[in-house]
Amino acid sequence: MSSYVLSFETSCDDTSVALMDRQRKVLWCQAANQDTRHKIFGGVVPEIASRAHTETILPLVDLLFQEMQITWDDIFGIAVTTRPGLIGSLMVGLMTAKTLAMAKKKPFVSVNHIEAHLLAPWLWDDKHVVNPQFQFPYLALAVSGGHSHYFHVKSWGDYELLGHTLDDAAGEAFDKFAKMVGLGFPGGVQVDSAAQKGNPKAYNFPRSMIHEDNAMLSFSGLKSSALRLLSTMTKDDIEKNLNDLCASFQEAIVDTLISKLDWLHKKFPTKSVVITGGVSANSRLRSRAQDWADKRKLILQIPPLRYCTDNAAMVAAAGLWRLEQGINDNFSVAASASSLDVDFSLRVQR
Ligand code: KG4
Ligand code: ZN
Repeated sequence: MSSYVLSFETSCDDTSVALMDRQRKVLWCQAANQDTRHKIFGGVVPEIASRAHTETILPLVDLLFQEMQITWDDIFGIAVTTRPGLIGSLMVGLMTAKTLAMAKKKPFVSVNHIEAHLLAPWLWDDKHVVNPQFQFPYLALAVSGGHSHYFHVKSWGDYELLGHTLDDAAGEAFDKFAKMVGLGFPGGVQVDSAAQKGNPKAYNFPRSMIHEDNAMLSFSGLKSSALRLLSTMTKDDIEKNLNDLCASFQEAIVDTLISKLDWLHKKFPTKSVVITGGVSANSRLRSRAQDWADKRKLILQIPPLRYCTDNAAMVAAAGLWRLEQGINDNFSVAASASSLDVDFSLRVQR
């Protein structure tokens, strides 16, 4: 019996291919990062991203088949991210998946990238097991360079969107701030490491919408406030106070994310809580979230970093339950820059 799901993720600037078995064990997952190609431009250049996906995706498939010593008879379906993301990037993964599905006569299913992030805590492998107490339903914060969304995840395929950012995503705010203070791209990780040596109370940055009775976020005010402050400082001042600036800016983001999580948890008191997406790598967010969860005796699942950042294994998890139900998407499926209305029911709590 064919046993494995083959999956693709190309929604932004990581080309990732994975192989998963029917128990959601990740057997193989590699992500080719394009940071060095985008670095000189200070951000992701869509045309360069899609070109890099085109060059990388099939060699990764070849490598997977070689290293795993499998044939197409072992594959029972293909899953691919089709939304949201950069349209040119998404199309590379989608066309690859469609072509292989057609040529090898395999079912294929299209997957929403944010849904895939929400299901990442179910992934396991030889080095990582899922906490056996982790269960549906759970509150999830998907937080990365492209998204900052809160969900009530009730079951496979049943997700309620509870809140989201009205402007920048948290990771985007980290990246823009890093650029303002002269740190490189991508900036989040560098702000994190400078912040570890700084005082989070040194500067007072705004926590937008924190007292509003909803789960909506906004980081554009924070960004403008940082810009205003930095415009009053000399280059030397910024360099001298870099660690304090990073720690204070980071604290404003973490405070905002945790306070909205806390507000939501009072309305949806789930036993399990998930934080996922690239920003969940942030050391301060991790420790503050862990303290918050410990005080409430909650099970906090933050997937290992390799499954938090963009990867194809989470796409396989989102594809598996569809394939097992016999879902086989039509070859007319198109890529979409945004999520579709059918993906999530929106319920903003007041
Ligand atoms: O999930 P991801 O790999 O790609 C997107 O879908 O965006 O997330 C990348 C984002 C970037 O904005 C990056 O700066 C941020 O996650 N990030 C961090 C850290 N590591 C990555 N932000 C804060 N602290 C970190 N340690
Ligand atoms: Zn992502």
